[in-house]
Amino acid sequence: MGSVKMTAHLVFSISIAAIGSFQFGYNTGVINAPEMIIRNFLNYTLEERLEEPPRELLLTTLWSVAVAIFSVGGMIGSFSVGLFVNRFGRRNSMLIVNILAIAGGCLLGFCKLAESVEMLILGRLIIGLFCGLCTGFVPMYIGEVSPTHLRGAFGTLHQLAIVIGILVAQIFGLKYIMGTEELWPLLLAFTIIPAVIQCAALPFCPESPRFLLINRKEEENAKQILYRLWGTQDVSQEIQEMKDESARMAQEKQATVLELFRSRSYRQPIIISIMLQLSQQLSGINAVFYYSTGIFKDAGVKEPIYATIGAGVVNTVFTIVSLFLVERAGRRTLHMAGLGGMAICSVLMTVSLLLKNQHNWMSYVCIAAILIFVAFFEIGPGPIPWFIVAELFSQGPRPAAMALSGCSNWTSNFLVGLLFPSAAYYLGAYVFIIFTAFLVIFLIFTFFKVPETRGRTFEEITRGFEGQVQDAEKGPMEMNSVQPVKESTTNV
Ligand SMILES: *[C@@H]1O[C@H](CO)[C@@H](O)[C@H](O)[C@H]1NC(C)=O
Repeated sequence: MGSVKMTAHLVFSISIAAIGSFQFGYNTGVINAPEMIIRNFLNYTLEERLEEPPRELLLTTLWSVAVAIFSVGGMIGSFSVGLFVNRFGRRNSMLIVNILAIAGGCLLGFCKLAESVEMLILGRLIIGLFCGLCTGFVPMYIGEVSPTHLRGAFGTLHQLAIVIGILVAQIFGLKYIMGTEELWPLLLAFTIIPAVIQCAALPFCPESPRFLLINRKEEENAKQILYRLWGTQDVSQEIQEMKDESARMAQEKQATVLELFRSRSYRQPIIISIMLQLSQQLSGINAVFYYSTGIFKDAGVKEPIYATIGAGVVNTVFTIVSLFLVERAGRRTLHMAGLGGMAICSVLMTVSLLLKNQHNWMSYVCIAAILIFVAFFEIGPGPIPWFIVAELFSQGPRPAAMALSGCSNWTSNFLVGLLFPSAAYYLGAYVFIIFTAFLVIFLIFTFFKVPETRGRTFEEITRGFEGQVQDAEKGPMEMNSVQPVKESTTNV
């Protein structure tokens, strides 16, 4: 194991896969800056068609649909991951879905020329589908090609590419780049370029060796790929581990989403996966981004977009910090540190917002709290939920688990976006206390339920859960028998 190297081939393959994550980030961030311009486009287009100025309500509805349909596409896409990955393989699935990015990008790029609101909305739906699929494919592929001791660090690259995507979208959306009356269709269509690059490069990336050996029984092929990816001839241990997994998989049926809840050995890991995804979204990160514009404005930042970009930079820097910490400190510790830090910052935000009319300097406390909140998010709750799902499951149930947890991420993201504005309206500054409560609940959950996965093979992690199930089943009847040595869940 010690001889496993970080080869250029491995870094190349993972970076190319992470273009899918970049696409998700880019398309999430791209719609914010040109809001007014696109609303004007809707107004103009509808006026031509209806031959009278459209009502304000119709415009707002259409704009909201264009924004929200991306999430609907994401929910459907993330839930459909299982339809692709076992049939076409991990790499080819990533390759195929770029058709969606190109089709969606074309619809968005030409909607202004065609004066078509339908093209705008359909394009956003298709791009949403594409991004939903990417959020399943990329962490799965990265998890399966990475050597055990680098799985977390490489897994964090998914989140890093997402935040870089958001940052690039914000910068491209500036008035003097592409955020203009003429260029906004290009801003939205830009997503085609990474799609084409990924299509050109993916054929040079290998299929996941775990997929080849366990799902396709192509042992020799899998071995060759491991030699090249990890730069070592000594892969017998991993091959043996995959074979064990393959043998066990032959005994169990292909897991569907429902079976994840029925089977006792899957129930606990799927609940952990979903809870961690919820902890990412219900931490309030997007609500804070949404709210921060107004706060920065109050504090005298003239162009709030620069504050947003500043937060994007903090995002990126701390995701890189997490990348270096995740194999040292472990997933569990970082996730708890992140949640705890965010909980403290959210209390600080509430207090400073309540007091900022009495004391001007309180708005600076609030800005500091926001930035530190973002930093803590990227230390743990940002990157970890994405890749830990791939770690908690073996090959058979993994696609269904990725689908279910990805879909819960998209759904909770959507619900926070939908409900936060009215909650903020009714509760004012106290709205952040809701997130404090969630953060504390998730912190306690993580402390009691989430095992450390750093440095353990998939086989070891899965066996850890099965061991617990057997213990629970035996429990009352075999009180006096010697308890099997339980694998510690917190140490490597
Ligand atoms: C739509 O455009 C018309 C002019 O064509 C303008 O009077 C109206 O205020 C615009 N509506 C909105 C909501 O921007």
